[in-house]
Amino acid sequence: MKLNMTPAWQALQAHRNATKDLNLNTLFAQSPDRFERFSRSLQGLKFDFSKQLVTEETLRKLIALAEQQGLTDRIADLFGGKKLNITEDRPALHTALRDRSIYSLDDDGQAVSHEVQRVLDQMRPFVDKARSGQFKGFTGEAIRDFVHIGVGGSDLGPNLACQALESGKPGPVNMHFVSGMDGVQIVDFLNQLEPETTAFIITSKTFTTIDTMANADRAKAWLKAACSDEVAIGRQLVGISTNKQAMTAYGIPASQQFEFWQWVGGRYSLWSSVGLSVAIYLGMHVFEDMLHGAYIADQHFRTAPMEQNIPVIMALLHVWYLNFCGCGSRVVLPYTNCLKHLPDYLQQLEMESCGKSVNVRGEWLDVGTSAVIWGEFGPNGQHAFYQSLHQGNQMVPADFILVCKPPRPENFDQHLLSVANCIAQSQALMTGKSEDEVRMQLKQEGLDNEHIESLLPHRMYPGNRPSSTIVLDQLTPRNLGMLIALYEHKVFAQSMIWEINPFDQWGVELGKQLSKKMFEELQSGDTSSHYDGSTKGLMQLFRANTQNQ
Ligand code: F6P
Repeated sequence: MKLNMTPAWQALQAHRNATKDLNLNTLFAQSPDRFERFSRSLQGLKFDFSKQLVTEETLRKLIALAEQQGLTDRIADLFGGKKLNITEDRPALHTALRDRSIYSLDDDGQAVSHEVQRVLDQMRPFVDKARSGQFKGFTGEAIRDFVHIGVGGSDLGPNLACQALESGKPGPVNMHFVSGMDGVQIVDFLNQLEPETTAFIITSKTFTTIDTMANADRAKAWLKAACSDEVAIGRQLVGISTNKQAMTAYGIPASQQFEFWQWVGGRYSLWSSVGLSVAIYLGMHVFEDMLHGAYIADQHFRTAPMEQNIPVIMALLHVWYLNFCGCGSRVVLPYTNCLKHLPDYLQQLEMESCGKSVNVRGEWLDVGTSAVIWGEFGPNGQHAFYQSLHQGNQMVPADFILVCKPPRPENFDQHLLSVANCIAQSQALMTGKSEDEVRMQLKQEGLDNEHIESLLPHRMYPGNRPSSTIVLDQLTPRNLGMLIALYEHKVFAQSMIWEINPFDQWGVELGKQLSKKMFEELQSGDTSSHYDGSTKGLMQLFRANTQNQ
């Protein structure tokens, strides 16, 4: 039976039709304890969804949908190592990276815990060496700058964590991130850094991604220009990959190859050796605290009943807005600049996982799955797109992220300013400003009636715009790990409701194939291929503009 014809779906559709006029201001007026009833806590984290357009009945009906779709069993399957990634015939065992005590199975039915432990044991002394100045370049000088080269899941997680958790004061080494295929970032870094004291952490699950390998080649050539000894150059390269053979072929010494495994999806790989850059930059304890935070979220997701389960509720709200309220996007708004990379990270996590049109049986879906996830450091967004959130004619549910303890305690006042804005913005989205309120305000401003009536539609705010606020008591490694893992499980839960595979990403392959051929043709100047008029026109235009280069 098609998902939208199932009893739980139909019940939700009927419920939505009956509650179209639900008003948040009225809901709060009717139940002053709504904040307590519609929020959940997990250690240092509070998930407030009281400003969401749902009632207890909505929640019950959404949970009935999750039950109908077998979510409890699917959660057990995830943690039990079942091959949920059916198109690649493997399990998704990222949770085993943060819980070495559970018996997790890999593709061949082997326990993976000892493998995870082996790589952590390899990481620890290397991190010590790197942070204590014992990791030396080809002149014998200590390496001061590390450049993490990767893209997508091999970049976004460590980049987010390094930015989020750094203290703002110089540490023992510097960490730079390069992901851009076009070469601008790497060239700019190389212009500032010294080959004697710089090492490159080449991070790629496949070790074939063209973006990463092009940047790595460029870095290697830069080292080579300063030192002709290939072996010495290799010692300034660190590799993180599932592809040991390729790392060896690239000249990376075995002791500097940090493995991970096929059962770790790229966008779930922060918890593997991909987190090495976080450990080098901030300390191994920081990385291990993040793992612990994620483990707390895992245990919660695995054991909490649905009505208490934060990622399940987050997923259900997402399904509610996308499938029943027609909201095609969700905005993520962190109110600390430390989390400015969080929207990018969640964009890949959600859109690569849920951007699917068929279910696990290969049947075309009759319900939407591919919401647009976007966002920005909230205060900057206020001066860019909040106008549209407040008065635009699309409803965009928002996730506000609020951190209580200031990440930079020396500037508490500005932190307070940001917190005030975060809370006020979610309030404004919800309460809006009615015609009467605007009329009164304009009267007080001394405007005449005609002027007031002409301005009214422009000055009123519809309100009733939903949001959640995730409050962290402080931005610790543990809390960050917990926050990210909660989102991972949210994505998993909604995927299981839609019955899609959140662990593959075949959609990115076609563009990669075509661009390979295009690159060769742009290089050779041969346009004999039968392209459409637009593609051919763009190629010729590019060539005309770069003829003398
Ligand atoms: O192009 C998409 C993708 O395959 C992502 O899923 C992945 O995170 C990224 O590319 C990088 O891949 P790799 O780690 O193999 O270089």
